[in-house]
Amino acid sequence: MNVPFLDLRLHHAPLRGELTEAFEAVVDASAFAGGPFVSRFEQEFAAYCGARHGVAVGTGTDALWLALLALGVGPGDEVITTPMTFMATVEAITYTGAKPVFVDIDKSTYTMDPLELEIAVNRRTRAIIPVHLYGQTADMDPILKIARRHGIWVVEDACQAHGATYHTKRAGSLGDIGCFSFYPGKNLGAFGEGGAVVTDNEELARKIQMLRDHGQARKYYHDVVGWNARMDGIQGAVLEIKLKHLEAYNRARRQHAEHYRSLLNGVPDLILPRERPDSRHVYHLFVVRVPDRDRILKEMAECGVACGIHYPIPVHLQAAYRSLGLERGAFPVTEQCADEVLSLPMFPELTGSQIETVARELKKCLAARSRVMVPAAESRVARTELALKPLSLTATVLRESTDGHRVHVSSQSPRL
Ligand SMILES: Cc1ncc(COP(=O)(O)O)c(C=O)c1O
Repeated sequence: MNVPFLDLRLHHAPLRGELTEAFEAVVDASAFAGGPFVSRFEQEFAAYCGARHGVAVGTGTDALWLALLALGVGPGDEVITTPMTFMATVEAITYTGAKPVFVDIDKSTYTMDPLELEIAVNRRTRAIIPVHLYGQTADMDPILKIARRHGIWVVEDACQAHGATYHTKRAGSLGDIGCFSFYPGKNLGAFGEGGAVVTDNEELARKIQMLRDHGQARKYYHDVVGWNARMDGIQGAVLEIKLKHLEAYNRARRQHAEHYRSLLNGVPDLILPRERPDSRHVYHLFVVRVPDRDRILKEMAECGVACGIHYPIPVHLQAAYRSLGLERGAFPVTEQCADEVLSLPMFPELTGSQIETVARELKKCLAARSRVMVPAAESRVARTELALKPLSLTATVLRESTDGHRVHVSSQSPRL
């Protein structure tokens, strides 16, 4: 049985009639850029997140960038985030002219380590961007405490965490501004690009509304130099329909995660994702850690199981950020994770038998690997090494096979 990484065709099939009607309504209203469909979605999405204001924008990257601009971040400032994220988090900082500063992640949740954050804060720090990676929020209480003590803004990168909760609150409503992407493979995905910010702060919402629309609050009266980052009417209409199903999608993802856990718990050499008791993970991605990851990725593909890597190269080691002068060894937890993470198929419509196939093939690949790695004569030594450093036996890295993952989305693409 072939198991795709995600299947957008299947995902949209039950909504086809409703979506077609919505397209016709957008065409009839000629509401293509912004307009009533987008405004309705903004209000409903903000309410869903538990925030007073929602401002829809063109992409998640726009959301992060305009949020920072609205907070007054600019040249001479520093913004702290983690290198274990998608490039866009850091690009948004760079666009403002501020300097991205990285702190390492917690080794079990892969989100910002608050102890590292405390050390990195200085008088130039203007904002912190915790990334709610893979669908689980960062540990926000200590992060907010540090931020409040130093008078620093907190912008949540919730691009992978629609509907995730921390204590009783939803992602996006925990800091000063929450930023979302509606890229098609996200838990709430559009039919193209889309993004939004949510906030309780009316003034910030108003600034972002202006910045996304050429700096105008009134047509052709431009108070500041802005940008064109409006959301398309079609995306507003699609997202309004899909938002009604987001809770059901997230429940299905969580059930699949439980199923994976029941089948994979205790498998040697395999680290399962850890869910913090104070948060509700929404499993945008189900990410395990394995030794010899690239070989396992390849073997899983040969067995018909499409997996992904999020992300193979931490941002501080990307060629684009060479100028920061950061080398391998700067963020050891991130670097080890980047070598070991493997995203298993995860989407709401995944079936029980597909999950069983993935688990069976993964176990087979791991078992075959230990037979190759631990021949009888060396088994004692090798086992001792494994116990000391269970996932350090990484093999040759097939970067070129993973680079293309984020290029475009089809129903099979692992770019989320
Ligand atoms: C963590 C994170 N931040 C930011 C973004 C950027 O969102 P977009 O692709 O909509 O610009 C993404 C999207 O993949 C993401 O996963």
